[in-house]
Amino acid sequence: MRIDIITVVPDILKSPFEASILQRAIQKGLVEIHLHNLRDYTTDNYKQVDDYQFGGGAGMVMMIEPIDKCITQLKSEREYQDVIYMTPDGERLQQKMANRLSMHENIIILCGHYKGVDQRVRDQFITKEISIGDYVLSGGELGAAVLCDSIIRLIPGVLGNETSALTDSFQDNLLAPPVYTRPAEYKGWEVPEVLTSGNFPKIEAWRENEAYERTKRLRPDLLEEE
Ligand code: ADE
Repeated sequence: MRIDIITVVPDILKSPFEASILQRAIQKGLVEIHLHNLRDYTTDNYKQVDDYQFGGGAGMVMMIEPIDKCITQLKSEREYQDVIYMTPDGERLQQKMANRLSMHENIIILCGHYKGVDQRVRDQFITKEISIGDYVLSGGELGAAVLCDSIIRLIPGVLGNETSALTDSFQDNLLAPPVYTRPAEYKGWEVPEVLTSGNFPKIEAWRENEAYERTKRLRPDLLEEE
């Protein structure tokens, strides 16, 4: 999979891909991340990417021309399944969406800044608008990093154990059950006996029940989804 990220602050997006699972996914050749500095697509001496909004009002708006140049250039080189815009008024990111996007070959992610982008960018180029939650970030970059992480870890071969992504919270509308590791007893606090019993059907049944009970207690809304 190839992900092209268009941003005015590429520095924010460097470190998330330079450590741990995402770095390994890149090193293994399972994903390519290409950062594009929008200022490289300007034609004026000031490398201007934003301007005052028509009609007046506080806050700058990202201009259409550099964004058009960047997206058009990328699209001339390969086919993209989605051109995503990170914005607080987009569709809320959920596991199902990450699952679907992880099957794409190429995607573009445009990070918004200031008051957002000229509406014509959204109308002409964007196929999907995504929010990572009901709060406003200072730019779309951290949202893009969250989106990339949620997608990349689902690409086959990225996680060591293929099944571990399948047993994550949300994959089947259930939160994950509690987990424990050694020691089996610490300061008198014990691991549930069933987990050390070696009885795997019983362990599986216990996990299913715990996942259900935890979901009912913490996120009953998930049980109502189809
Ligand atoms: N840009 C600013 N706030 C955002 C959010 N909540 N999600 C995605 N992009 C954003």
